[in-house]
Amino acid sequence: MASSCNRQYFLNPRLSLRLVTLLWTVTWTVSATERAADIYLRGEVGGNVTFHCPVDKTRTVTFFYFQIQDEFVNGYYRTKDIVRSVWENTRVDRDETAVHMYGLNISHSGKYECIIQYVDSPRINEAFIELSVTANYSKPTVTTFCDGENLSCLVTCSSHGGYPKAKMIWNGPMSENTTNHMLTIVNSSEVPNPVTMMFNSSSTANFNCSNGQQTGLSCSVGDVTSDVFSVCAPKVPPVVSSVIVGFACVVPFVLLLGLLLYCKCKKRHRGEATLNGKTVNGGDEEAIGLSAI
Ligand SMILES: *[C@@H]1O[C@H](CO)[C@@H](O)[C@H](O)[C@H]1NC(C)=O
Ligand SMILES: *[C@@H]1O[C@H](CO)[C@@H](O)[C@H](O)[C@H]1NC(C)=O
Ligand SMILES: *[C@@H]1O[C@H](CO)[C@@H](O)[C@H](O)[C@H]1NC(C)=O
Ligand SMILES: *[C@@H]1O[C@H](CO)[C@@H](O)[C@H](O)[C@H]1NC(C)=O
Ligand SMILES: *[C@@H]1O[C@H](CO)[C@@H](O)[C@H](O)[C@H]1NC(C)=O
Ligand SMILES: *[C@@H]1O[C@H](CO)[C@@H](O)[C@H](O)[C@H]1NC(C)=O
Ligand SMILES: *[C@@H]1O[C@H](CO)[C@@H](O)[C@H](O)[C@H]1NC(C)=O
Ligand SMILES: *[C@@H]1O[C@H](CO)[C@@H](O)[C@H](O)[C@H]1NC(C)=O
Repeated sequence: MASSCNRQYFLNPRLSLRLVTLLWTVTWTVSATERAADIYLRGEVGGNVTFHCPVDKTRTVTFFYFQIQDEFVNGYYRTKDIVRSVWENTRVDRDETAVHMYGLNISHSGKYECIIQYVDSPRINEAFIELSVTANYSKPTVTTFCDGENLSCLVTCSSHGGYPKAKMIWNGPMSENTTNHMLTIVNSSEVPNPVTMMFNSSSTANFNCSNGQQTGLSCSVGDVTSDVFSVCAPKVPPVVSSVIVGFACVVPFVLLLGLLLYCKCKKRHRGEATLNGKTVNGGDEEAIGLSAI
């Protein structure tokens, strides 16, 4: 192992950092590390980010490396090559003192540390860059199942592949309180995928149809919202129903009236026939009935 010396130096960056620090705190009694303000960075699953470590461009860098919780990510040493393995999905940009990270996934989230030393000073400069990787939830899909009489409808909204964990929310056209009166949440869940750590979020709600059709509904998770949907059969509008009711009342009434008139006529003709002393048969009655009208 010819390279073991080099490797040793970078094997445990923290350890080597501590040694360097210790050495210089002994000789110089001042604090030998300088910590810059934290930097926050956002990335998306599958995307790329660039960590720009705060570096003084006017000075020459002795070494620079990037680590997360004592795990070496990538870096360089001015006069040597780094032999130890670096994260496959990273590239160091020496000119910019930056680290490019590709193909992000949730597990890349965390607090990274830049460690920089300049040629002209033994001081160790630290900076923290916090990366949060997120994933957009898919547009929620809505499935509706109504019972036979359309007295109530069960609606499920589901979305997958999002991060961080987020609840499915129901949106109604009116105030939150009204929405809560219209529906009862049966269950909801946020299930993580053990490998990708991304969540599937869903919610099932029961809608009471006693108030008729409910329109302008939607559900949301994270920043995404479903298509607008309606549930329950529309209530028969009052105008239409009164026409139907009216029609339903009038028809038997007309029939009854007709029957009543018919009977009255028949009675009167029968009376006339008796008065005239005629024997009445079916055919005659018909003829008399007709002529009497
Ligand atoms: C990430 O970087 C790779 C390699 O440079 C590139 O092919 C890809 O298009 C980049 N992806 C995004 C989302 O920018
Ligand atoms: C995720 O959502 C944000 C904001 O809605 C959008 O700007 C971005 O392009 C989306 N990313 C992907 C990969 O669709
Ligand atoms: C219930 O609603 C469905 C769809 O909206 C409709 O096809 C069905 O006829 C309705 N049933 C009753 C009993 O109203
Ligand atoms: C909703 O109900 C709560 C208590 O039940 C009340 O305090 C609140 O003001 C109501 N909000 C609206 C928008 O009506
Ligand atoms: C929620 O309830 C619905 C209807 O009872 C059921 O089909 C679904 O499997 C339930 N989902 C969960 C995550 O329990
Ligand atoms: C999440 O949803 C996707 C798409 O519907 C499905 O293929 C996957 O099995 C679900 N994962 C979990 C953990 O439920
Ligand atoms: C995330 O990326 C790392 C490489 O940096 C890889 O080892 C790991 O398997 C990836 N995880 C997932 C869930 O894709
Ligand atoms: C639906 O609402 C009506 C009136 O608000 C109520 O009488 C009925 O019990 C409710 N049905 C269910 C299944 O909750």
